Amino acid sequence: MCGIAGYIGNQQAAPIVLDGLSRLEYRGYDSAGIAVFDGERIRMAKAAGRLSVLEKLTDSGRALPGFCGIGHTRWATHGCPSDENAHPHMNQENTIAVVHNGIIENYRKLRAKLEKKGYVFSSETDTEVLAHMLTEYYRGDPVEAIEKVLHRVEGSYALGIMFLDHPHHIYAARRDSPLIVGVCGEGKFIASDVPALLEHTRTVYYMENEEIATLSDEHIRFYSIDGELLSKEPVTVEWDVSAAQKDGYAHFMLKEIYEQPKALRDTIFPRLKGDRIDLEDLGLSEEEIRRLSRITIVACGSAWHAGVTGKYVLEELARIPVETDLASEYRYRNPICEPDSLVIVVSQSGETADSLAALRDAKARGSRVLAIVNVVGSSIAREADSVFYTNAGPEISVATTKAYSCQLAAFYLLAAKFALVRGTIDEARAKELLSSLKKLPDQVQELLSAPDELSFLANRYLAADHVFFMGRGIDYAVSLEGSLKLKEISYIHSEAYAAGELKHGTISLMEEGTPVIAVATSDRIYPKTLSNIVEVKTRGASVLALTTPDHRDLSQVADHVLFVPKTDPLFMGSLSIVSLQLLAYYVSLGRGLDVDKPRNLAKSVTVE
Ligand code: AGP
Ligand code: GLU
Repeated sequence: MCGIAGYIGNQQAAPIVLDGLSRLEYRGYDSAGIAVFDGERIRMAKAAGRLSVLEKLTDSGRALPGFCGIGHTRWATHGCPSDENAHPHMNQENTIAVVHNGIIENYRKLRAKLEKKGYVFSSETDTEVLAHMLTEYYRGDPVEAIEKVLHRVEGSYALGIMFLDHPHHIYAARRDSPLIVGVCGEGKFIASDVPALLEHTRTVYYMENEEIATLSDEHIRFYSIDGELLSKEPVTVEWDVSAAQKDGYAHFMLKEIYEQPKALRDTIFPRLKGDRIDLEDLGLSEEEIRRLSRITIVACGSAWHAGVTGKYVLEELARIPVETDLASEYRYRNPICEPDSLVIVVSQSGETADSLAALRDAKARGSRVLAIVNVVGSSIAREADSVFYTNAGPEISVATTKAYSCQLAAFYLLAAKFALVRGTIDEARAKELLSSLKKLPDQVQELLSAPDELSFLANRYLAADHVFFMGRGIDYAVSLEGSLKLKEISYIHSEAYAAGELKHGTISLMEEGTPVIAVATSDRIYPKTLSNIVEVKTRGASVLALTTPDHRDLSQVADHVLFVPKTDPLFMGSLSIVSLQLLAYYVSLGRGLDVDKPRNLAKSVTVE
């Protein structure tokens, strides 16, 4: 979801800004641009397409000399991807340049007012209103002008701004779209995310909502949008640089699939003190856990799929009613929040606009909010009442893998802890669960070390137009995630169905050769899923089945069977998903697609 990078210091700005933008490419974009003060004027270059187009246009930044610049990768929300709609946007006098992540929701009204005053627009974007509004309110003090504008705009923004008559300054502001400020000796940076400045510094300031920053050769200052000077402490980023590199893997996605054993270890083991699950940092007392009346899990995409598994596991173990809701639905359905209810918001990035808004809505309704998040210091992490951090490490590929797996592990730990506290499982069952949990990373490693038949199996799907996934219970929850993995990186239409539901309509789509991927690891309901496999087979479907070595009979029915190691039935999803991730990866590869940066998608959807 787009990116901002800016630099001011004693080095040429353009190459640093372009490099910063390249490290944000994983966030997804469709065009890019840059503006640099060259000593006399603000010069700009921007173009639709990949960053490489802009690098060519600017001779890798050499064509834009200067020591102060801002850059942007755009994920279009208002106005098609085009050169004109790319950022930066400037006012008519070319004295103010703006880059923006987010949406100005009241831009139509603002644009109409500005056009009535004679301002001429050159793009279709919402962002351009900011350049003209700043012109309207500017009387020589950039911060004052920015305050006035931000009081009038509705919606989300992360902004980088330059004013011609304040040449060696960058101004920044944010509301609901992430923005950080970095400092390294003489250099000062703004960026949407850590990878953009990790090469230069680990000392960063996380901007809070409705804060303004001014960066100059002399200082970094922060203000509220009411003009109050703020004092902020920098933090040291712990990321290791290699985390933002492929380390020899062809793609970040493959690297992150293979990092899952370590990610799971790093998420599970710090929480285990002997045979005790340590969730003290979540601030949920045993009394509060016992009183819990309901849990609502709210998230988007794969994080929601993790929540579907979380529902099954929490209800099975802790006997608490759990509902899951898509964040984009939750916030508009006027949800009921009881005093003893808990809302769990799941998000890898911690910046997903829908999930952040749902969190705020739940809090406003009096619910306690626990967040399961992978990015330290992200908006959702900062605004939740407590945070269960997954320790997957930086996840760069747009298609999540290791973070999703760690979200599952987080739910396993929460469910086991809640169940023990509520007395719905005994110590023996708790020991059993923890023993299985401790083995999970090694079992994932075993799967990843097995002969890789998935790259061969993937060839079956390269020409497919539709693929159906099905399963029951946790196998269904995994099917949801397997289906999303396939469609989002291979662009093959795919749907996941509760296996028992197929006969209520969708089975009419089964014909000779229809590809079906059936997840059948649950012993308890295996006979039922087997019947569903037979049902689609008899209608001509070609079935790839995932199961455990206990069900070798499936080879008589399915066209191909993938075996995954056995663990506790509640944790089987952590193993089945690895095969489905690899299958999706190889299909995307086989179709010659950009695995890490699929079209139209962004790593973090920071707009509604
Ligand atoms: C997952 O592969 C997708 N990239 C997408 O569905 C993602 O899970 C969703 O946008 C939620 O992102 P978050 O976990 O950062 O909130
Ligand atoms: N809404 C702005 C536009 O469409 C910014 C989109 C983004 O965040 O990149 O240009």
